[in-house]
Amino acid sequence: MLPKIHVDLKKYAHNVNYLTKELHERSISVMAVSKVYHGDQNIINVLNESDVDYIADSRIQNLQNMTTSKPRVLLRIPKLSETDDVVLHANISLNSEIGTIRKLNQSAKNMKCIHGIVLMFDIGDLREGIYYKEDYLSIVEEIYQLEHVRLEGIGTNLTCYGGVIPEEQTYDKLYSIKNNIENHLNIKLSLISGGNSSSLFLALNQKLPKFINNLRIGEALVLGRETAYGKALYYLFDDVFTLEAEIIEIKDKPSMPEGILGMDAFGKTVKFEDRGITTRAILSIGKQDVDANDLIPPQGVIILGCSSDHLIVQISKLEYQLGDTITFKMTYGGILSLMTSPYVEKSYE
Ligand SMILES: Cc1ncc(COP(=O)(O)O)c(C=O)c1O
Repeated sequence: MLPKIHVDLKKYAHNVNYLTKELHERSISVMAVSKVYHGDQNIINVLNESDVDYIADSRIQNLQNMTTSKPRVLLRIPKLSETDDVVLHANISLNSEIGTIRKLNQSAKNMKCIHGIVLMFDIGDLREGIYYKEDYLSIVEEIYQLEHVRLEGIGTNLTCYGGVIPEEQTYDKLYSIKNNIENHLNIKLSLISGGNSSSLFLALNQKLPKFINNLRIGEALVLGRETAYGKALYYLFDDVFTLEAEIIEIKDKPSMPEGILGMDAFGKTVKFEDRGITTRAILSIGKQDVDANDLIPPQGVIILGCSSDHLIVQISKLEYQLGDTITFKMTYGGILSLMTSPYVEKSYE
């Protein structure tokens, strides 16, 4: 069935194994992030056979459905309403609310187990985490006294909401938090989770401060690039995931619509460029599956637009005919939406 997303498991394994080795050599453990592919078990199996230290996902359903013996980490701050499920399906969760941590403690007590907590700090990106200037020692003290949660360590997230690029000095704030907590409680925090694929630039160039001993990596594993500057890591594959869609119409048409122009199918006013008569193909995939801006066409193919079920591209007539398929690379957002679309077949090689 088309459209189809092809997952090259060997290429994914290469990316996973290469990066894990590089990070382990720098004493950095790896949480491999599986949310972009919906926790797909075929791909999780690659992680199962690798040396990654944890599997992390933002959705509890994905953690629940996967089979693995690696520790499972819930990346998104848990909902107060789901603490039982979190304790049941995740070994560790990232947290920033003491109210939720108290409830996780209660759920873990009911289940007679211990749940791991990574306390998140916001050092400037302004997404999740206790703001670094706030008083956090009383919170940490309380967590430390709860009997059914274990404070695994602290973490921070960067280059997400605020787009803050991690620099060596960015981490000074996290370093003082770590020291303050350790001195206050007279303990050693075992896990300092310093960020995501945007911290790879520092890590791979030996510039990540040594106190950071964990990164949570998603995009670099599937797209072979770091995300602080969007640079390709040339020794990794950028085409682990590709999309194949079928041409259902090929026609030569003018590039300018005729008549008075109003809104498109999504209520937006669209601008057109007059390229004269062009050969256009319609592919059987649309916004319901993926945003056209998240598709990267092969050379010679130009994306013109997209409605719910149709993707319109400009092609060379000599190269394609009706029924042929066109294969695209994708952005992270494209993989995310296509891997969760029930209309897109997934195939593995
Ligand atoms: C808290 C957290 N950490 C790490 C990641 C992984 O980020 P990236 O895909 O940039 O490596 C994400 C997003 O998936 C996240 O939400």
